[in-house]
Amino acid sequence: MSIEVIPTGRACGAEIKGVNLAQLSDADVGDIRAAWLEHEVVYFNNQPLTIEELERFTLRFGEFGFEPYVETMADHPNVIEVRREPDEKASPFGAGWHSDWSFQAAPPAATILHGKIIPPIGGETWYASGRAAYRALPAELRERLDGVSVEHSARGPYSHEGYKATRGDERTMKILPSDRAYDSQMHPLLRQHPETGEPVLWLNSVYSIALHGVSDGDPDELLKILLDWCVRDEFVYRHRWRENMLTMWDNRSVAHLARGGYDGHRRVMHRTTLAGDKPSPFVSGVAQTH
Ligand SMILES: [Fe+2]
Repeated sequence: MSIEVIPTGRACGAEIKGVNLAQLSDADVGDIRAAWLEHEVVYFNNQPLTIEELERFTLRFGEFGFEPYVETMADHPNVIEVRREPDEKASPFGAGWHSDWSFQAAPPAATILHGKIIPPIGGETWYASGRAAYRALPAELRERLDGVSVEHSARGPYSHEGYKATRGDERTMKILPSDRAYDSQMHPLLRQHPETGEPVLWLNSVYSIALHGVSDGDPDELLKILLDWCVRDEFVYRHRWRENMLTMWDNRSVAHLARGGYDGHRRVMHRTTLAGDKPSPFVSGVAQTH
């Protein structure tokens, strides 16, 4: 293997060295994919990619996902510029725990984020491993997950009553609210990862609005317990950015959030997503395990 993989030592995350993302061989792509599946979040330093190179990197791993509710870049319909200006008062984009677009029927497999202008302080991205959260789940909670579905909806942030309406229009990024945000999508609470076969506890506080099919106890109470559980410190990796760093995470197994703490500084990132599958429920005994 030509690349070097250096795990963070946390529940997820690894740095990958020894590769130029603008000139990937097929072997590099295979090695990166394997490391990404194993570590859920991988990052690469010193990768000064153009937007076109970011697009080409993304397409080495699959097809672009569909980006709703946020205006994409002019001339780059698959790229979102995540930008916050020094004097901006709005909360950081993506400040609550979420998996990107989990309200879609087939949410993105991966999100790829490239750091262009990185403030000297703050601005971390935190990742919570849904795989680690399930592995450590106490037996009495595991038993309550059988057949439970999660209702996902974009209504919190992207309805007309969402954050554009409640927090003003002072955000640099252009949010495109819609009545479609009230749509719901049901996904399994315990998801089978389509590539590794591993079980993943897959829910998030921004888009997961209700549990359905709970046979033991109050669904709202169980939702709160599980949302708290998934983001316990032992499952979280806190990622610090540098300019020209590219990070790619497995949106099928981690949740993430954007931290603030850099008022007075500009922060600019370019983001793409990789199209994903419709989530399948985990079937114990059938899936391969590692
Ligand atoms: Fe996000």
